[in-house]
Amino acid sequence: MSGSIENKVVIREYNEDRDIKVVGKLERKCEIGSNKEVSIFTNMMGDPLSRIRFYPVHVMLVAELRENGELVGVVKGCIKCVGTRFGASYVRLGCILGLRVSPRHRRMGIGLELVKSVEEWLIGNGAHYTFLATEKNNVASTNLFTSKCNYVNFTSLVIFVQPASLPVKGLSQDIKIEKLQTDQAIYLYNNKFKSKDIYPTDVDAILKEKLSIGTWVSYFKEEEWISLHSNERNEDIITRTPSSWAMFSIWNSCEAYKLHIRKSHHPFKFFHATLSHARDKIFPCLKFPICHSLQKPFGFLFLFGLYGEGERLQELMKSIWSFASRLAENVKDCKVIISELGVSDPLIEHVPQESSMSFINDLWYLKKVNDIADDSEEPVVMGQVTGNVFVDPRDF
Ligand SMILES: CC(C)(COP(=O)(O)OP(=O)(O)OC[C@H]1O[C@@H](n2cnc3c(N)ncnc32)[C@H](O)[C@@H]1OP(=O)(O)O)[C@@H](O)C(=O)NCCC(=O)NCCS
Repeated sequence: MSGSIENKVVIREYNEDRDIKVVGKLERKCEIGSNKEVSIFTNMMGDPLSRIRFYPVHVMLVAELRENGELVGVVKGCIKCVGTRFGASYVRLGCILGLRVSPRHRRMGIGLELVKSVEEWLIGNGAHYTFLATEKNNVASTNLFTSKCNYVNFTSLVIFVQPASLPVKGLSQDIKIEKLQTDQAIYLYNNKFKSKDIYPTDVDAILKEKLSIGTWVSYFKEEEWISLHSNERNEDIITRTPSSWAMFSIWNSCEAYKLHIRKSHHPFKFFHATLSHARDKIFPCLKFPICHSLQKPFGFLFLFGLYGEGERLQELMKSIWSFASRLAENVKDCKVIISELGVSDPLIEHVPQESSMSFINDLWYLKKVNDIADDSEEPVVMGQVTGNVFVDPRDF
């Protein structure tokens, strides 16, 4: 910490009894990004830890002014285990998320101090790499992590955003969408994840979370997928698939947190800007007017675990988005369907190109902080850009 900032700010662990209200307030007043006409705020619905609670090893740090105890910044961190296609099957990834500094206290070095402190915590808890995601246009965050903290970009992704009120047209009569049992879904994912550059080692925990609504497969009715219904072993599901099929899961983010859009002076302008990460990175691009309903806090369904095989994926992908839109109609406060795919994910070219669909470029950054014991191969070669990753709904 530079001398002057150290004298002004103390970084300490979040204390629920003492900080819950103030942190909620700080998060609500920290706009994401820099659009002058529309500001996006997150509302953690009274639980600032909601993004990291899913991980057993997590922390939230706050920055407090020494002079008056005012809370002016916050950052969250958690550790998750991932497998990789590059060799190591078990990498401890320290994730940094939810970094916020109060607008009045920016450019004083507080963001940097929060990042250094959370990195220290993650390293102390055994992280091999530290990681963060940020929307491409977030200059402040990109500069902070690359110039000041030596992070490198290791993958680029695209976030797809579709208003639930403008569904992708046509749930084809020729296509069947069928819900899997959880053990079938786990088996299929564990089998198919091996083709991903990076994937979670605990997909069972993701699918058993209460926000996970289910996993479905989509295929053409003309071909039957008999092994799905018989009491056969799960291995038979994989060996006897239809010629084209896709699978996906849905996460109901509406239950955990909401987004809130506030407009300044131009009430019915379209969104053009892009903002920053994840929930921090989404909504600016919605290319539809800020209607009355979006001025109240709203939530979204997150389509994840998209995987497909065969020649006719275009139609199957369309059916998936359509299905998700229909599902959204019955979910309270749900206004948007979102998904995110790595740039070299084979499914990316099959995402429906509707005019109502928006795209946001997202970048993932990484830094190596510890050696991986008993593993000769580097799981992620620094500087090598990967592009087919599993996007974990818990982090979004
Ligand atoms: C990103 C954010 C946390 C930075 O906090 P901060 O306390 O202002 O950052 P610092 O003062 O520690 O800045 C450290 C470095 O980051 C970079 N940086 C910070 N703000 C910047 C800006 N507005 N423009 C360009 N670079 C910026 C600079 O390299 C800066 O070093 P310098 O001041 O010596 O040039 C803050 O702008 C914020 O809360 N933004 C809204 C939420 C958000 O986007 N979070 C990031 C999600 S990943």
